[in-house]
Amino acid sequence: MKKYNVAILGATGAVGKEMLKVLEERNFPLNELKLLASKRSAGEKIEFKGNKYVIEEATEKSFENIHVVLCAAENYISEALSPAAVKAGAVVVDNSSAFRLNENVPLVVPEVNYEDVKKHNGIIANPNCSTIIALTALSELNKYSKIKKMVVSTYQAVSGAGVNGIKELEQQIQDANQDKPVEIKTFQYQIAYNVIPQIGNFDDMGYSEEEMKLQNEGRKIFHNPDLKVNCTCVRVPVYRSHSESITIETEKEITPDKAKELLSKAQGVKLVDDLVNKKYPMPLDTTDQDLIYVGRIRKDISSENSLVLWCCGDQVRKGAATNAVQIAEVLVKENLL
Ligand SMILES: NC(=O)c1ccc[n+]([C@@H]2O[C@H](COP(=O)([O-])OP(=O)(O)OC[C@H]3O[C@@H](n4cnc5c(N)ncnc54)[C@H](OP(=O)(O)O)[C@@H]3O)[C@@H](O)[C@H]2O)c1
Repeated sequence: MKKYNVAILGATGAVGKEMLKVLEERNFPLNELKLLASKRSAGEKIEFKGNKYVIEEATEKSFENIHVVLCAAENYISEALSPAAVKAGAVVVDNSSAFRLNENVPLVVPEVNYEDVKKHNGIIANPNCSTIIALTALSELNKYSKIKKMVVSTYQAVSGAGVNGIKELEQQIQDANQDKPVEIKTFQYQIAYNVIPQIGNFDDMGYSEEEMKLQNEGRKIFHNPDLKVNCTCVRVPVYRSHSESITIETEKEITPDKAKELLSKAQGVKLVDDLVNKKYPMPLDTTDQDLIYVGRIRKDISSENSLVLWCCGDQVRKGAATNAVQIAEVLVKENLL
């Protein structure tokens, strides 16, 4: 079997480190591996499959002979380096939001719109983590009856803000427990023992950047430009796995029983819905694995053709690293490298 040279751009971050785990677990056909990060980390070593790899500073010249770049860095870094990687002949799978809405860039959740990978021109975008979790959960329902509208509230883990988010919650819990003043750097307010209804900057209508992603990206992935999404994104003091409360309005009715039947067979989904035995999705249960757990499925008693559900998923894995590696696997399978 052919093997591929892979570079991880942002290999020292929350998503980059997880990509290494996922490449190993899924046995990606890897030839050479290049680990890239900022100047700060250059020279440090990371272990992968028993070998030590030296981190290199990412520059425009880093991508010679690389087949796939898994980009796990901020927008401005991806904007600066992804075009150079494409010029060098690599395909970039980008976790940042820099190219997601560019019409020449497919935006892909393999369980939902696998075929879109084939339209790539060098860059394929990984959707926002909350979008991946919601759309993986909803894909089979959307196929059965088109979703017209979604009302969503998210409960997003601190690791969604990278390694700094994790450190901030750890430190604040320690300091608050000792009655010391807490230091606030990553989030707008103290996140320990709190919830913050702001992720990203607000627009003129009062929606945050994160809240608009679900509509903008959902329309592109579902190929439904009329999809309407009203979303509230909230940061919660959970280390890992985002949770979402979702109400959907569909063209024809989907009963709770039909939804359970569809979700029990849906790719990438685990139905966890047993109220008698208090079984429903929770972030502690979805952490460190790839399935999106869906439960609390019930009829929306305030509206017609409307269904309510609750889902949780590990946003560092399926919401980022695993989805990116899955896209790379599609590129291999479809001979697109
Ligand atoms: N965390 C999540 O749950 C999640 C989910 C979906 C999407 N994403 C997206 O994935 C990307 C990475 O997020 P993250 O959470 O992994 O962030 P992170 O933990 O803060 O890691 C950022 C990575 O970028 C590297 N970096 C910083 N400046 C750089 C530069 N000038 N040149 C090259 N590399 C540089 C860092 O290297 P150093 O260690 O050297 O600074 C680090 O490896 C972001 O676009 C984020 O929006 C994250």
